[in-house]
Amino acid sequence: MGRKKQERFRQNEVSENIVQPGKENYLKIKGHWNEHFGNDHPIILEAGCGRGEYTVGLAAVYPDQNYVGADIKGSRIWKGSSIANTAGYKNAAFLRTKLQNLTDFFAPNELSEIWVTFPDPRPKEGEEKLRLTSPRFMDMYKDMLKPNGKLHLKTDSVLLFEYTLELLQSGEIKGVENLIFTRDLYSDPVLLPQHHGIQTTYEKKFMAEGFKINYLSFTFKK
Ligand SMILES: C[S@@+](CC[C@H](N)C(=O)[O-])C[C@H]1O[C@@H](n2cnc3c(N)ncnc32)[C@H](O)[C@@H]1O
Repeated sequence: MGRKKQERFRQNEVSENIVQPGKENYLKIKGHWNEHFGNDHPIILEAGCGRGEYTVGLAAVYPDQNYVGADIKGSRIWKGSSIANTAGYKNAAFLRTKLQNLTDFFAPNELSEIWVTFPDPRPKEGEEKLRLTSPRFMDMYKDMLKPNGKLHLKTDSVLLFEYTLELLQSGEIKGVENLIFTRDLYSDPVLLPQHHGIQTTYEKKFMAEGFKINYLSFTFKK
């Protein structure tokens, strides 16, 4: 590991806004995020947050909501964590985990919203269960969300977007309501405000390559 990465990992170990293996609260946080934030405000998860642009960006716009960015890569969450620390955002935190284990860290009904931002498309058929919008993940999201909690997906991947829409519209995922979507967010003046003007690292990269940005959201009835 390079020196820079070592230093980032050292900072992650002491940063109060990061929950990760080895920390005292790591296995105790489930059901206790409001205590972690010290308020009873709604909690919103960014799944596969990378550098956490939505976690930090929305924390700045909505100081009365709490944001948790989850990702397995420590060097990426270091970035979001350090931006939040420098800006003094107490309503942003990061969780280092495999997303397959999310329900070990969030109790049923603990979340108000989930953002899934530019997930890896996992195009091979055998990889379907690793897609962050597969039925397995949708079941977990539904469990963690409050009744009528909202899920947002932003992606450049036509494959992943059409796969997800098919799951939602076919009735395979139960309890889906208020589904709205666009295959070209930046040409959709109605849905454009939904993304709060925030662009992630991968979004900028894909846009520079000429990809259109797909967006959808829906609520889960329970
Ligand atoms: C394409 S990147 C997008 C990052 C960020 N949301 C963005 O838009 O810039 C996908 C991110 O999801 C994370 N990721 C993918 N699958 C994961 C999994 N099963 N568990 C934890 N993190 C995962 C990766 O580490 C990576 O940071």
